[in-house]
Amino acid sequence: MAATARAIAKPVVRNLATDLDLSAEALVYVLELAAQIKRAPSRFNKTLAGRYIGMLFEKPSLRTRLTFELAMKQLGGDAVWSVGPVDEREPVKDVARNLDRWTHGIVARVFSQSTIEELVRWAKVPVINALSDLYHPCQALADALTLQERFGELAGRKLAYVGDGNNVAHSLMFAATRLGMEVAVASPAGYAPNADIVTRAREYGNISVTEDVAAAVRGADAVYTDVWTSMGQEAEAEERARAFGPFQVNAGLLAKAKPGAIFMHCLPAKRGQEVTDDVIESPRSTAFDQAENRLHVQKAVLVTLLS
Ligand code: CP
Ligand code: NVA
Repeated sequence: MAATARAIAKPVVRNLATDLDLSAEALVYVLELAAQIKRAPSRFNKTLAGRYIGMLFEKPSLRTRLTFELAMKQLGGDAVWSVGPVDEREPVKDVARNLDRWTHGIVARVFSQSTIEELVRWAKVPVINALSDLYHPCQALADALTLQERFGELAGRKLAYVGDGNNVAHSLMFAATRLGMEVAVASPAGYAPNADIVTRAREYGNISVTEDVAAAVRGADAVYTDVWTSMGQEAEAEERARAFGPFQVNAGLLAKAKPGAIFMHCLPAKRGQEVTDDVIESPRSTAFDQAENRLHVQKAVLVTLLS
């Protein structure tokens, strides 16, 4: 019988600094809770009454910032936020020890994963990684929920990730393998995922890393891509556009996947670069379902960590 949030005791989760802060059981719990919240949001509208989060954003955000703020408000609490380098005016450890006096949790989008680790080290309240150079765990949870909605049981399904071996790719590898999927990553030379992270993720399932994009998408149930140039890499944009050209997800590439394979993107998307307009606008695209699910999974994360 499939495990459900109702059937599994609420796991103790201290932080979401990396994907692996959720045990395999906690991952199933959070996804099931997210599905429950999505089905009946009003049942949860007082769950975090009187609770507040402090959000720190070193980089721009539409989905992450707004969905965390909406999530807190819809759960009965609220969110405050600050934009700019976390350590510009004082050490990260001091920021952590201010926020934990005022709030019940910290959500941080940062350039370096080391800032997340420093917040975790010093804050007495949970810290949630809202994207770093290495991970984007909240995105991967929304993607996992979207995959479950489309396919039900994920064991035996294949996910192809095409493009930059970045934060999104890293978190996706952990989520997908731990839910039983095979993962194939196709990246140009020099842009493969971090080798240590791949080694770690291979403990949970089958991951191939290749420069052969057709081989990666062959037999795939889902083809995922992200921008070629992530936030903070703008100076490399031209060089990256040259390297990533053959890795564009277009109708021709999608046709090489399983018939009816879905297309996934975390957004924001650069149409004409990593994906063509016809693919992202097609009924096979789940990009806006993924964006919607950011709200539901983040509510589940907040309820699990803060209540
Ligand atoms: N997908 C995502 O994290 O979007 P934002 O950068 O808009 O938060
Ligand atoms: N890889 C992208 C993801 C944006 C949601 C970035 O880091 O900019």
